[in-house]
Amino acid sequence: NIEDKHTLQSNGFKAPSSPKQPFFIGVAGGTASGKTTVCNMINTQLHDQRVVLITQDSFYHSLSDKMLQKVNEYNFDHPDAFDTKLLLSTLEKLKCGQPVTIPNYDFNSHKRIEAGRQVQPANIIVLEGILVLHDSGVRNLLNMKIFVDEDSDVRLTRRMQRLAIERGRNIENVLDQYSRFVKPSFEDFVLPTKKYADIIIPSGGDNDVAIDLIVQNIRMKLGQHDLCKIYPNIFVICSTFQI
Ligand code: ADP
Ligand code: C5P
Repeated sequence: NIEDKHTLQSNGFKAPSSPKQPFFIGVAGGTASGKTTVCNMINTQLHDQRVVLITQDSFYHSLSDKMLQKVNEYNFDHPDAFDTKLLLSTLEKLKCGQPVTIPNYDFNSHKRIEAGRQVQPANIIVLEGILVLHDSGVRNLLNMKIFVDEDSDVRLTRRMQRLAIERGRNIENVLDQYSRFVKPSFEDFVLPTKKYADIIIPSGGDNDVAIDLIVQNIRMKLGQHDLCKIYPNIFVICSTFQI
């Protein structure tokens, strides 16, 4: 769209539209593809920056008691399972430099529990989740869009291990949920968002080269950011001639 054409830099990434705005990175991909691992690797390399990691999982809708009785029929991989309105307003506040509260979602009770996490503004916000590239409003806030690609058998194996160990689920239920909801929704909703990605990372957690290149690019953008804070007129020149 027109707005994208005006803000896209020649290397395809969107420059923050105001020099004071934080740099937003979206990391999408199928379940257990390595999204969190990639985010942690980016965060570790950017140890000298204030980075905030946010997971889309925090924005799952709580299930009512009636819905909980039929939890095995619920599709947690459908876009409607997320409170995207709340996610969007939270991201918009962070974009404006305001503090926010991130809900505390519990995978066992399928509800938001206790008080949320207070998050102060940061210069880099990393948003991770299966469907972070699905909603156009969320996509438009992202300066860099990443899709982590991993073989589906590898993802299923990791998911089974993780759900059995960390989330205390029964293997039969995990497989049933996977074939009825996770796999079809991946094909219908997650995979089609790959086309929006600026960068596709194969074998996320093992791909040091991709992480190095991403971090280098973020540092370059932040450098321009600082320059633009001091000399606002240079911002236009940076965004036009960036390679
Ligand atoms: P996602 O956030 O996409 O669900 P995670 O990064 O949490 O995926 O990874 C899912 C599981 O797979 C975790 O238990 C993690 O430790 C493991 N994992 C991630 N990347 C790798 C890798 N490259 N090699 C082996 N295990 C990995
Ligand atoms: O970390 P990951 O990206 O795998 O988290 C998303 C997955 O969590 C979805 O595939 C969804 O099936 C699963 N989920 C779940 N139970 C919930 C909420 C999400 O199994 N209560």
